[in-house]
Amino acid sequence: MKIPSLQIGDITARIPIIQGGMGVRVSLAGLASAVANEGGIGTIASVGLGDFEACKLDFERVCREALICELRKAKSLTDGPIAVNIMGVLSNAKDLIQTTAREGVRLIVSGASLPLKLPEMVEDPRALLIPIIRSGRAANLVLRAWDKRYQRTADAVIIEGPMAGGHLGFSVEQLQEPEKYALSILLPEVLDVIKPFEDKHGRKIPVIVGGGIFDGTDIARMLQAGAAGVQMATRFVCTVECDVAQEFKQAYLDAKEEDIVIIKSPVGLPGRAIRNRFLKNLETGLKEKINCPYRCLSTCNVAEARYCIAQALISAYLGDMNKGLVFCGQNAHRLHKIVTVKELIAELLAEIEAY
Ligand SMILES: Cc1cc2nc3c(=O)[nH]c(=O)nc-3n(C[C@H](O)[C@H](O)[C@H](O)COP(=O)(O)O)c2cc1C
Repeated sequence: MKIPSLQIGDITARIPIIQGGMGVRVSLAGLASAVANEGGIGTIASVGLGDFEACKLDFERVCREALICELRKAKSLTDGPIAVNIMGVLSNAKDLIQTTAREGVRLIVSGASLPLKLPEMVEDPRALLIPIIRSGRAANLVLRAWDKRYQRTADAVIIEGPMAGGHLGFSVEQLQEPEKYALSILLPEVLDVIKPFEDKHGRKIPVIVGGGIFDGTDIARMLQAGAAGVQMATRFVCTVECDVAQEFKQAYLDAKEEDIVIIKSPVGLPGRAIRNRFLKNLETGLKEKINCPYRCLSTCNVAEARYCIAQALISAYLGDMNKGLVFCGQNAHRLHKIVTVKELIAELLAEIEAY
C-alpha cells in the first residue's frame, strides 16, 4: 500500500501516525519531537507535569510553567507537528488548553471525558480541536453539541478502542468483551456519524483509530477501512527516546500477557496496567494516607482513594516499581526490545508498503 499523509486542518503530517499522549510524563518533548522528526505527529501529555511538592503550593502555575517548558523544548527539537493531549477531567484543563494555544501549538487532543464544551475553552481560532471518542454515539453527542452551540465541527476525531492503555472509556464489563467494540466495528459506525457534519461544514473530518494497533499490517487494514491515520502509544514506550526511566520500559519487556490487567483507578475509570509489586501490594488492602491540597482531577474521590494516582504514576516514570503504577496497552507483552523511534517508524512504514 502507498503510504498516505495525514491532513488535519492546514497541518500535514508526512505519515499517518500519531504518537498518542501518555501521562504522566511518559510522552514529553523528547519522544514527541522524535516522532515529529520522522514525519508523524508527536503528542505531549499535559497531565502531571511540574514538581509534585511545588504543585501543592501553586498547582495551576506550576503545571502551566512545566507545560510551557516542554512545548518550548519540543519546538527547539523539531519543526514537525506537535500535539498536546489534555484530559478533560483535569481541574486545570482550561488553563492547559489556553497555555498550549498561546505557545502556538495548534493540535489539541482532548481525552478521558466527552469534551462537549472544548471549543469555548480555546480563544485562538487557529487551534485544531480533536476529541477522543469511544463510539458512534459519543461522536454524535460531541459533534452535535459543537455544531449547535459553536457552529463548528471537529478538525479530526480519534476513536480509542478497548485495547488501549491508560484510562479507558469502557466499563469493566465491556472490557471483558473487547471484540464487540473492535476498531473494525467502531470505525464504520463513526464514519457514518460524521458524514452529515462533513456535508454541513463542507470539509473532511479525518478519523484516526487507536488502541491495540501494533504493526504496519494493522495500520494498512485501518487505512483501507477508511481511517485517515492511527494513534499508537504502547509501541512508543519501548523506544530509546521515550521519556520514562529504563525500569518502566523493562516492565513492558518483562510483561507476560497474564500480567496485563484492568484496574479501577481513583479517577473513577477503569485503566489498563502491568500487575507489578505496587498493584500486588494494593491487593492486600493497603491504603495510603493521601495529603492532597490541590485536587488535580475533578473526578478523584480523595477520601475514598486508596492511593494518589498522580504520585503513583510519577513513581513509575521515575522507575520505582514498588510504588509505581505502570499503564500500558493490551499488546505490551508483545514487545521484546528497545529501538529508536527512527527504527520503529521505518519498520512500520515498510510493513505498510508491503501490504
Ligand atoms: C502509559 C500510557 C499512558 C497514557 N496516558 C494517556 C493520557 O494521559 N491521556 C490520553 O488521552 N490517553 C492516554 N493513553 C492512551 C494513548 O494515548 C493511546 O490512545 C492508546 O494507548 C493507544 O493504544 P496502544 O497503546 O495500544 O497503541 C495512555 C496510554 C499509555 C500506554
